[in-house]
Amino acid sequence: MAKVFVTGGTGFIGYHLIKALSEGDHEIRCLARKTSRIEPLRPFGVQFVQGDIRDADSITGALSDVQIVFHLAGTTRALRREEFFRVNEHGTRHLLDACLRCKAPPVVVFVSSLAAAGPVVGRSLAPKVEESPCHPVSLYGISKRAGEKVAEKYAKDLPITIVRPGIVFGEWDKDCLEMFRPIARTGIHLVPGYRRKYYSLVYVGDLANLLIRAAEQGERLPANGQSGQPGQGYYFAAYEETPSYAQLGKMMGEALGRRTLVIPVAPPVVWTVALFGEITGQLRKRPVLFTWDKAREALAGSWICSAAKARRQLGFETPIALLDRLRQTVAWYRQAQWL
Ligand SMILES: NC(=O)c1ccc[n+]([C@@H]2O[C@H](COP(=O)([O-])OP(=O)(O)OC[C@H]3O[C@@H](n4cnc5c(N)ncnc54)[C@H](OP(=O)(O)O)[C@@H]3O)[C@@H](O)[C@H]2O)c1
Repeated sequence: MAKVFVTGGTGFIGYHLIKALSEGDHEIRCLARKTSRIEPLRPFGVQFVQGDIRDADSITGALSDVQIVFHLAGTTRALRREEFFRVNEHGTRHLLDACLRCKAPPVVVFVSSLAAAGPVVGRSLAPKVEESPCHPVSLYGISKRAGEKVAEKYAKDLPITIVRPGIVFGEWDKDCLEMFRPIARTGIHLVPGYRRKYYSLVYVGDLANLLIRAAEQGERLPANGQSGQPGQGYYFAAYEETPSYAQLGKMMGEALGRRTLVIPVAPPVVWTVALFGEITGQLRKRPVLFTWDKAREALAGSWICSAAKARRQLGFETPIALLDRLRQTVAWYRQAQWL
């Protein structure tokens, strides 16, 4: 039985990863903060360790005898710039330091993001592949890339694989819910900017399976710094289908059983809404979904990547069509009365 440690297990992707792990032969230990919601994970027989990835001391003892570490803890929105880096960069360093102190170094699978690689700009529309140069545009993306660079430095002492998903959706996801909601209520889908932009998505259950395969047989980051193959140890995770944001809205509408009207929004309006989000977040002292950082991403270009390497090397599969997975997600939202 493999002993596994999960950070970010109390989040959306973490829930599905722990569920998938619990179906195999794994003893699961999960990092949880005082405020984390641990109830949904109770059925999976998880052992919880209280700690915060920003506090190195709080995770030091959590990893004894662990063979695999899944590092999902991350901040996707924050009120201040430093908070992205405290979690996504320094938190990664704290965790890898704790891994180094283990008697036998565990395998580490780090969930980064397509945001770390950056958007596809210009006319080519060739999806990002693992060896593509990285040009993140948002603080979130820059901080995730900083976390990746930390991991690259530790690769000489630890076997590390990095998985970069596109937009992840599925049951329990609150972010995509905010895209479904306006369509469900009004039949209107707002598209930021006038240029057509395309997106890569991945269903959360397919991603969870890929993470487990990456731990078992994934290529690792080069142990000797920069001298490995470009992109070695990295995998993108996404459907092959890359709808435009307008098409995605229509697909969501179809999944909801609604006709959808797509309305483009001028960039100055997008920035104004983002500014309003920033002010609201600062007043409430809680980051909102659409901020300056998200506007940067929304207007930057297409967010598309190819998962061909993960398919070839790890047998990554997306067995159910994107539209059907969107339908499945809607059914869950309705059953949970989130919609
Ligand atoms: N969702 C997507 O579309 C997407 C796409 C690409 C990459 N990713 C990456 O996937 C990972 C998981 O994302 P998600 O969508 O599952 O996000 P999520 O639902 O917001 O979950 C984030 C997780 O990180 C934990 N966390 C945050 N700050 C922490 C800290 N200081 N110490 C310990 N744990 C902390 C949270 O704990 P609490 O429960 O205590 O809040 C939660 O378990 C992130 O690293 C994210 O960058 C997500």
